[in-house]
Amino acid sequence: MKDFIVVSPNNDEESQLEKENRLLSRQVAEEGFVLLYNNGVLPLQERTVALFGTGARMTVFGGTGSGETKGRQKVTIEQGLKNAGVKIESSLWIDEFDEKYKRKRKAWKDDVEEHIRGYHLWNVMDMFREIDKHHFVFPVGDEICEKHVKEECDVAIYIVARQAGEGGDRKLEEGDYFLSRTEVDSISFLKKHYKKVVVLINSGGSVDCSFMDREETKPDALLYIGQPGEEAGNAVADILLGNESPSGRLTATWAKDYYDFPGADEYGFLGENSKEANFKEGIYVGYRWFHANHIEPRFAFGYGMSYTTFEHCYLDVKQKGTKLVFRICVKNTGAVYSGKDVVEIYVRKPSADIYQVMKELAGYGKTKKLNPGEEEILEIEVSLKDLVTYQADMHGEYLLSGEYVFFEGTSADNLNAITIAVVQQACLLKKVEPLNSCKVKFDEKIFENSFIENRELPLLEIDTSVFDSYISEHQSEGVIPSNRVLNLTDEELCTMLVGGSVVSYGYVRTPGTVGRTSNILWKKHKLPSINMADGPAGLNLTPQSLITKGGMEKSYLHLPENWSYGFLPKMEWIAVGNPKRDRMICQFTTAFPSTTVRTQTWNRELIYKVGDAVGREMKKYGITLWLAPAINIQKNPLCGRNFEYASEDPLLSGYMAASIIDGVQHLGGVGVTIKHFCANNQETEREYMSSNIGERALREIYLKGFEIAIRESNPWSLMTSYNKLNGTYTANHNELLMNVLRKEWGYSGVVMTDWGAITKGKGDYYQCANNGNDLIMPGDGSAVKQLLNDLKTGRLNRKAAQISVERILRLVMKSDYVG
Ligand code: BGC
Repeated sequence: MKDFIVVSPNNDEESQLEKENRLLSRQVAEEGFVLLYNNGVLPLQERTVALFGTGARMTVFGGTGSGETKGRQKVTIEQGLKNAGVKIESSLWIDEFDEKYKRKRKAWKDDVEEHIRGYHLWNVMDMFREIDKHHFVFPVGDEICEKHVKEECDVAIYIVARQAGEGGDRKLEEGDYFLSRTEVDSISFLKKHYKKVVVLINSGGSVDCSFMDREETKPDALLYIGQPGEEAGNAVADILLGNESPSGRLTATWAKDYYDFPGADEYGFLGENSKEANFKEGIYVGYRWFHANHIEPRFAFGYGMSYTTFEHCYLDVKQKGTKLVFRICVKNTGAVYSGKDVVEIYVRKPSADIYQVMKELAGYGKTKKLNPGEEEILEIEVSLKDLVTYQADMHGEYLLSGEYVFFEGTSADNLNAITIAVVQQACLLKKVEPLNSCKVKFDEKIFENSFIENRELPLLEIDTSVFDSYISEHQSEGVIPSNRVLNLTDEELCTMLVGGSVVSYGYVRTPGTVGRTSNILWKKHKLPSINMADGPAGLNLTPQSLITKGGMEKSYLHLPENWSYGFLPKMEWIAVGNPKRDRMICQFTTAFPSTTVRTQTWNRELIYKVGDAVGREMKKYGITLWLAPAINIQKNPLCGRNFEYASEDPLLSGYMAASIIDGVQHLGGVGVTIKHFCANNQETEREYMSSNIGERALREIYLKGFEIAIRESNPWSLMTSYNKLNGTYTANHNELLMNVLRKEWGYSGVVMTDWGAITKGKGDYYQCANNGNDLIMPGDGSAVKQLLNDLKTGRLNRKAAQISVERILRLVMKSDYVG
């Protein structure tokens, strides 16, 4: 197809948008870092440091796979400290490490090349992806010895770095979840040779911190920087030197012992059958589990330190419609540093005849930057809709009668009871039909509630009449096929149900997009195919490429790194373009901090700005759908994709997602795709495994974040997951999609499969549209052929197919490229 437009610029100058987004990326990183421990050494007064550890120069900016980040220029920790005027005394060690790493990688690559003839192209690419993922686990031998130590330097900074990404889980091994022998020995060596030792954890998720328990390896400060995006080094310098005070708070519990996590010994590859994941802990996920079992975590959910101190004073609570508004006065009581503080509100719901968790997050807020002595009154909203309890026997979600005890504080383990809200009569908020597919019963232990009642607390009676006209019964999302759809030929109908594949020629040409809708309606109806791009931490597009006159996408100057091995260079003449003849396309997108780091800011306004920034880049490069945010629950620290997810808590995940969605969608013409719906909590066997979950846990934990995001922000589309839910692939799951998503939540956006989730041997194409999953992605001719056949035989319901295409076309019509 020659009928296409290119909207990306053809020069590579840094634009104003890029500059602004770079600053935003840095601010988000700084607010997202969590200071886990500090005996007073931070912020550093010194301007000379020794820097060690794999992440010093090989800083991990983002994860691997579809969640990988691009970014024009990424600032390593070494570079960031230098930019801030810090003298680094350990360049010898860093250079040596670099050399050793490169030698090892080359030896490995040579070895692959020697055996490459037998491999298929994709195997080779996969192998190189694998090595990228685990490159820090490579036994590089980064020992530190006397020759690396300079007398005149008092401070050593050690960076523990880890990489992970989709397609594999992290390992419960030294060098991944545990520190390696070399890392532990290095910290102990540094403790002996330096007056002050600061450890930074540069990883998508938690690592075992038992080195904190031994005097010989306990650092003076511990900072979790996650995957900080392109401004990593500059942000690290700002925090270490005290230009900014840390204000990030953990969004997942860090355990003292891995086996403290629920179902730890059965997780993914650790269990006997990695294809059956039984979510036996029910609603007791993350801190809910730790509370119920009285397990002290290493670092609690919601925890994080600052360079200054704050005092909270609870003022009052008022009901405003369906919300409670808590007012809390926060004062910076320190004398030196300005800083922001987070206030967390938790609730204990009544538990007369149903088990409840002890405390769950109900709302939160963050102050502006407060100078010493300054105060701010925060108004924190708690939606009564989020306080419901699912009751299967009564077919509904209820605001139960009884006392709702509210707490405020600075982590799930540091809370004060502030008020009791009373519901006199149970109030039904939503009628729902119990899900027959969720009959799995696990022994959900009923935990004793250790809370001591405090009658001194102020009481507030909740007026439930605000819900009189709210109760939602099964509703229809109301999509009926228009004439435009009714008049389509069978071929057009079935083709529209299938994506336009990764390599097809879309209407808007944006190299690096991973999928698009079909272009079959372009010629006749001028309805273009629209682009979709990955990159939860910033659009994952090809930074520079060439487009031929005929519309072929080619590489600029050379093949991508993981293509250029073995026999592949022979393909260079086809795949690499000619800059003199072909059109140059430049797409430098911003690498933002990972979803986890962003969520650790607990700052909804800031996250809205990230959405807005990504949305503007989408418009610039011709992307209509962003394949983000992901709302899966961080159930276990070994999940390889945790960095793409927000939290172990559904409420926090849902509201942070809502902010980023609003940030994108307020621009108009561009939208998001929330994913992976649902219970995609492990990467091991992700395309074949079943997440087996009881209904209450499904609704209150694994669906809740999605429900909040849809209710608050109405995302344009949603992606189902690779896994099965209680034995059925989610893209074919009638109860999940038709009952819960479409009827209960009234969702009328486009639902698409994950990439290749439904193919031969994994679910059925016709069961997608029949059950509310509109689009099969990325799509290919064989899926269309199969659907045409299914339409003829009646297996594919024509009406369902028409409704799906109607939803797809409504989305296409909203894009910037129609009209
Ligand atoms: C991932 C999705 C991603 C898609 C497209 C899949 O492998 O699971 O999150 O959006 O690929 O790249």
